[in-house]
Amino acid sequence: MLIGGGSSPIYTDLLKLGFWPRSVTNVDPYALPQNDSCQILHMEDFLEYKIYNDFYHEIWALYSLPFWIDDIKQTDTFLANALLGLASNGNFRIYPIPHVNQGNDYLKIIKKFAENFTMIFPKAQCKFNKYLGTDTVVFNLPHSKEGMNEWLEKNYKRKRNIIEIILDALPEIVKIKSDTCLIKRYNKPTRSRKLNNMYWTSRTNNLPMDN
Ligand SMILES: C[S@@+](CC[C@H](N)C(=O)[O-])C[C@H]1O[C@@H](n2cnc3c(N)ncnc32)[C@H](O)[C@@H]1O
Repeated sequence: MLIGGGSSPIYTDLLKLGFWPRSVTNVDPYALPQNDSCQILHMEDFLEYKIYNDFYHEIWALYSLPFWIDDIKQTDTFLANALLGLASNGNFRIYPIPHVNQGNDYLKIIKKFAENFTMIFPKAQCKFNKYLGTDTVVFNLPHSKEGMNEWLEKNYKRKRNIIEIILDALPEIVKIKSDTCLIKRYNKPTRSRKLNNMYWTSRTNNLPMDN
């Protein structure tokens, strides 16, 4: 998988170099589709992307995230999402790790994340190197991811609100209906809290509303 792979025909490039990946998935909201059936493009923001867990043997973020993240604090979400999608024994490679205002802000966040991650899962490896003077990191997972996804979800993923969880669980048709209901309710003229309470009490008790 490429995170922010741009419009490069990476699958074809890999074949030329003698690598034979089964397929390549590129998650990039702005990339153009490539004329290659083995290269799959998902035009989505990786931070919001529902990744297929334990699936990808290699995940690369090259000149991509976390550099283009709007809020540096989302770096943890970026790392957690990629590690959820990474298969056991897989590698997640990030290059380069940007420096903000000559400080090491991204690097600090990634190092803290890696420290927590390898403390809980000591068989996972996280190697920091310098390449052409810039920091690079490779996460390597052990052959079992037991407990990892739950830990990543619990600690680093954006908590979904109850409406999102319910809508996700419902079939598409019900989704449309409830969307319409929500729109209708939000379009209702606002009443005072007292009037609103009276309205709902009379509705639930099946009584006429007392004005
Ligand atoms: C400098 S280009 C690098 C392209 C390619 N990885 C390469 O090395 O040639 C940065 C890429 O990150 C993508 N990008 C920006 N924000 C993104 C996001 N939130 N999720 C996924 N990709 C993103 C851009 O669309 C762009 O293609």
